Amino acid sequence: MYKIISKKEIGPKVRTYEICAPEIARNAKAGQFVIFRIDDKGERVPLTVAGTDPQKGLVRIIFQEVGKSTMQLASLCEGDCIKDFAGPLGRPTEIKKYGTVVAVAGGVGTAEVLPVIKELKQAGNRIITVVGARCKDLIILEDELKRESDLLLFATNDGTLGIKGFVTAVLKDVISREKIDIVYAIGPVPMMKAVAELTMLKRIKTLVSLSPIMLDGTGMCGACRVSIGGKMKFVCVDGPEFDAHYVNWEELASRLELFKNLEKISVDKFKYSQECKCHKK
Ligand SMILES: Cc1cc2nc3c(=O)[nH]c(=O)nc-3n(C[C@H](O)[C@H](O)[C@H](O)COP(=O)(O)OP(=O)(O)OC[C@H]3O[C@@H](n4cnc5c(N)ncnc54)[C@H](O)[C@@H]3O)c2cc1C
Ligand code: FES
Repeated sequence: MYKIISKKEIGPKVRTYEICAPEIARNAKAGQFVIFRIDDKGERVPLTVAGTDPQKGLVRIIFQEVGKSTMQLASLCEGDCIKDFAGPLGRPTEIKKYGTVVAVAGGVGTAEVLPVIKELKQAGNRIITVVGARCKDLIILEDELKRESDLLLFATNDGTLGIKGFVTAVLKDVISREKIDIVYAIGPVPMMKAVAELTMLKRIKTLVSLSPIMLDGTGMCGACRVSIGGKMKFVCVDGPEFDAHYVNWEELASRLELFKNLEKISVDKFKYSQECKCHKK
């Protein structure tokens, strides 16, 4: 069993937890993820390792409530335990000195970008971070991103922070002004696809972290299969990071839709059968 040591709300339906998992805390590197299961009946859900404290044996996760399992996780309290917390899984980000790095983050992808820029900064890179959201209130981790970035830029759909528009407009401006050695993009599929199309024109190496549906996380079930340059890869063991210019985005988007109806039924059932245990205390 894995105990929730701390719980904090950092945005609308976005929470950060510290979980006591000393082995993972000692071994996890930027870019890797865990798969949790709340109880014996729970589904397996992947979440990025957003940070670790190896001394205290703590692993930080940041998640958005989008469906049944993340809603169920959000209903737990400090001191509660979850059944499984397996990891670290996936290949770590390749950390080296590239020069100037642009990290583009959308939505809860910001949580996944944070450990990557932290390590890239320590490796001596200049970090330009571009964060996108629908509005200012949905931006998370602003102070931590500021600490790790040499330049932090925003794009919001309604213009309440940074430019009014998409992260690609900011990225276009940055790459027209200076030489960029590598771009990282983590966020929704349409955002990562748009970033890839833009950087392809300038031939800037671009890495994306993919979030397909996963089951076992060991490369055996095939649920997380993606096509990269025409070859079949499994995100859980070959990724989650891939060269953005070779990803088959249409296939990835359609595979993410596979269980939409079942996910909706599952959420509806959960909403009517549960209430947050915290409110009972
Ligand atoms: C390697 C990896 C790392 C991840 N890291 C994080 C993280 O750090 N924080 C976080 O909040 N989420 C992360 N995710 C996504 C997370 O696993 C899904 O949101 C999760 O499956 C939600 O489970 P659920 O049962 O609550 O929702 P579900 O019932 O599975 O889904 C509800 C709805 O959410 C959307 N959705 C589901 N899965 C995904 C997905 N993989 N990508 C995009 N949209 C999805 C769909 O619209 C779906 O209809 C990661 C996924 C992967 C593969
Ligand atoms: S989750 Fe089963 S192969 Fe990747």
